[in-house]
Amino acid sequence: MEILIGACVLITLIIVFGIGLGVGMSCAGKFRCGSSGCISMLLQCDGHSDCEHGEDELSCVRLSGKSSVLQVLTNGVWRTVCADNWDSDLSLSACKQLGYSRFIEAKALPLSSIEQDLQSNLVSISLNHTSSQQAIKIHNVTNFSKSQCSLGKVTTLKCIACGSRPRFNARIVGGNLSVEGQFPWQVSLHLQNVHMCGGSIISSRWILTAAHCVYEYAYPVLWTVYVGLIEQPVSTVQSLAVEKIIFHRRYRPKGLDHDIALMKLLQPLIFNGFVEPICLPNFGEEFADGKMCWISGWGAIFDGGEGSDSMLSARVPLISNKACSHPEVYQGYISPGMICAGYLEGGTDSCQGDSGGPLACEDSSVWKLVGATSWGQGCAEKNKPGVYTRITQSLTWIRLQMEREEMQHPSTISSDY
Ligand code: ARG
Repeated sequence: MEILIGACVLITLIIVFGIGLGVGMSCAGKFRCGSSGCISMLLQCDGHSDCEHGEDELSCVRLSGKSSVLQVLTNGVWRTVCADNWDSDLSLSACKQLGYSRFIEAKALPLSSIEQDLQSNLVSISLNHTSSQQAIKIHNVTNFSKSQCSLGKVTTLKCIACGSRPRFNARIVGGNLSVEGQFPWQVSLHLQNVHMCGGSIISSRWILTAAHCVYEYAYPVLWTVYVGLIEQPVSTVQSLAVEKIIFHRRYRPKGLDHDIALMKLLQPLIFNGFVEPICLPNFGEEFADGKMCWISGWGAIFDGGEGSDSMLSARVPLISNKACSHPEVYQGYISPGMICAGYLEGGTDSCQGDSGGPLACEDSSVWKLVGATSWGQGCAEKNKPGVYTRITQSLTWIRLQMEREEMQHPSTISSDY
């Protein structure tokens, strides 16, 4: 009998591990097609769909570094796109692949002025046919050659006007109360008429928030998004219905990692200075430890307290993951996908109800979303700073969701970008 039980246990273990290995590891060194197996890395972004659902032709374009340098993935290598032969059709295609429906501007920047690591693998792209090129994917164009960039310039791209505060008058800031237009990207997410979480506007159709806010309630009809407001309860401000909620599939309740979600709005937002998108950072962008950034929201004023009726905000420094993993702080809990901010001496922090909201940093007068409020032990306690989902680590995921939607349901309204 015991032998029998032992054998059963052994067989179960073998099966479980076998499946585990099959699902989790067999794609080592290869590209994983959603649920339908793996393909060679070299087939990724080669211009035709090799996965059942074409996943291998998504995420083939990215913006990198401080100046938004355009890069494409070819033959398994990310290459910086030269400025020669670049045109607005290509720009629009690239922006669509980044999940936007418009493009604002493309610039040619001297190769020498961008980060060193973006200078080494270069590529020139040119179109041979002159027809309307709306449908092309830029990693899939006619001429594609390794190059030295004949003009010595590379392409930088802007797909959305973001990160500015046109209606904010810096002279009237006082204390911790936010004023209209100070954080125009901050939204309040209401679950059945109650403020639950914060969020950030990243485009006219997308709100970025925390997975733990929506995980148990991932049904669009339950939610209303309020924008352009300071005071709760809400009055005449813009309110919007939600079309779709996507949370990171690796997020687990009670888990701390991959705490990120996106809400797609049913109707596009209208930007007016009090409602504005914040910029996403680019690949490889780093934000220095100690840099002063801002957190905001309607969360509790102390741990266990009630939410605030007015939007509050605070200036907090970024903390390195090393310092945040110190034994006295959060040893063993901080992953590369997180970023800490606040004061080790305590006193200023985000709190319950602020989750999903922005950790925003100003970078040469452009505001960028560096984090989304995720967790902390208590609020504002000594050695327990706020922990935020690190946006630069989630960019591939964010872009993938936006690109997929833009491919499946392209936005056609001209005001929608
Ligand atoms: N998890 C909280 C929320 O749902 C946010 C907590 C942030 N905590 C902190 N100490 N910074 O609103």
